[in-house]
Amino acid sequence: MQWWRDAAIYQVYVRSFADGNGDGIGDLRGVRDRLDYIAGLGVDAIWLNPWYPSPMADAGYDIADFRDIDPVFGTLTDADALIAEAHERGLRVIIDVVPNHCSDQHPWFQAALAAEPRSPERSRFWFRPGRGPGGDLPPNNWVSHFGGPAWTRVTEPDGRPGQWYLHLFASQQPDFNWDNSEVREEFHGILRFWLDRGADGIRIDSAAILVKDPFLADADPQAPPQAPHPYTDRDGIHEIYRQWRRIADSYPGGRALIGEIWLPDPHRFALYLRSNEMHSAFNFDFLAAPWDAEALRRTVDETLAAHAPVGAPATWVLSNHDVTRHVTRYGRADTTFSFADRRHGRELDLVLGTRRARAAALLTMALPGSVYVYQGEELGLWEIEDLPDSARQDPMWHRTGGADPGRDGCRVPLPWSGGEPPFGFSPSGGAARPWLPQPGSWRDFTVEAQSEDPASMLELYRAALRLRHDEPSLRSEREPMRWLPAAPGVLAFRRGDDVACVINLSDVPATLPEHDSVLLSSDPLEDGLLSPNTGVWLRLRRD
Ligand code: GLC
Ligand code: CA
Repeated sequence: MQWWRDAAIYQVYVRSFADGNGDGIGDLRGVRDRLDYIAGLGVDAIWLNPWYPSPMADAGYDIADFRDIDPVFGTLTDADALIAEAHERGLRVIIDVVPNHCSDQHPWFQAALAAEPRSPERSRFWFRPGRGPGGDLPPNNWVSHFGGPAWTRVTEPDGRPGQWYLHLFASQQPDFNWDNSEVREEFHGILRFWLDRGADGIRIDSAAILVKDPFLADADPQAPPQAPHPYTDRDGIHEIYRQWRRIADSYPGGRALIGEIWLPDPHRFALYLRSNEMHSAFNFDFLAAPWDAEALRRTVDETLAAHAPVGAPATWVLSNHDVTRHVTRYGRADTTFSFADRRHGRELDLVLGTRRARAAALLTMALPGSVYVYQGEELGLWEIEDLPDSARQDPMWHRTGGADPGRDGCRVPLPWSGGEPPFGFSPSGGAARPWLPQPGSWRDFTVEAQSEDPASMLELYRAALRLRHDEPSLRSEREPMRWLPAAPGVLAFRRGDDVACVINLSDVPATLPEHDSVLLSSDPLEDGLLSPNTGVWLRLRRD
């Protein structure tokens, strides 16, 4: 059974989840201590963001050693214990592998810097001479996802200005050359290393951009922003995925391979998914869609249509560690998400955003496929937009000179208990403050404050995840979804014979289809009507 096809997966951003040793940074001890909390939410699995030794130029996505744990997070022994303790609680564990790049401190990159141009050490990366007089210009016009050029020039061992190397992210994250067989072999070993230790699956970072046009052709400056780049949609990717798949399948029961694939078009996106390659991938189209019935319906239809022919399950995500938290997105006039403009500081109605986020949770969890919950969304946390500049750590913020506020605002440490920071994030008496400051208003949003309050976001998530877990109609892929007739601005669909989900995105109360009972509603019904920005799960009358 491919457990990931319909799983609910909780994303643990380790450095912001819980701090076990009091240094102000989340760690594996903290996660282990709170596994009961996660299991109690009713999810099937956890995905942990990178935990490897790293200089933390990009919060751990710059990996210096793919086979160990950063001391700030713990040790390999802690990782083994975490996996075992998760398994004891029925939770699967997905770990994050970053194959596109490593840290500039990785021994291979250090060896490349010390070696000659065109050496075997350099051919594991993308080193090229510069263009223009003296090679002063980068080899091509590619830009980094974090702003600025995608190339940095090195100083050769003899002290002269030398070649340039490619980095699609920060300059501390040199891109691997996946045409190089040593790189491929190395990652096969890394995959086996973690699967041998009991990982149930791998989340593959930046999975669509591993293979580059070997000629490193300039990107077309006239191309529309949605167009393929010289490093996406390359055929060579499939052979890489197939080899990983063979490794994953060699473990009893198989292991999940879940790709992070940022592509704006669901059909292009689905080309990356095949039953003998990548199993599933995050669906960012849904996340970026506005709070609008037609737009959401179109995204859902296109997503399901694109996945069906390749037999892949759809995935549904509202938030993660890279995007503006959805309570905030849904509280603005423009509710879409785009990396081009995070809209920090724009007018915001948090009450409205929260109300919509509650309804969105019921929508997301009722769709067929797997669903991801990003830590803190179950508490209704919003984006922290007013972090002091001195606290900001995201290279996106630094590399754009502050033009892009970056992702720190969705990574603020979780509030667990108590009336003031660190809200139980660090053990009491711990001297260090959380690595990003928490707002005092989170006192009303701690796990402690919300537990057993039936009106809280936390209890809504607990109830919804439990129902999703226990209701075959909601969960099983064998129960397709069928749209039901609904008023303009209302989404209504059926799962299986006897469950319906209705979400009112219009401005007026909506009537509900005939039903036996209400399984769950995001806010109370009023005179049997579904208020604007409210969602409901219904038990239908069986014919
Ligand atoms: C992915 C990660 C993001 C990281 C980037 C570079 O998009 O989700 O956090 O910065 O890859 O590794
Ligand atoms: Ca710590």
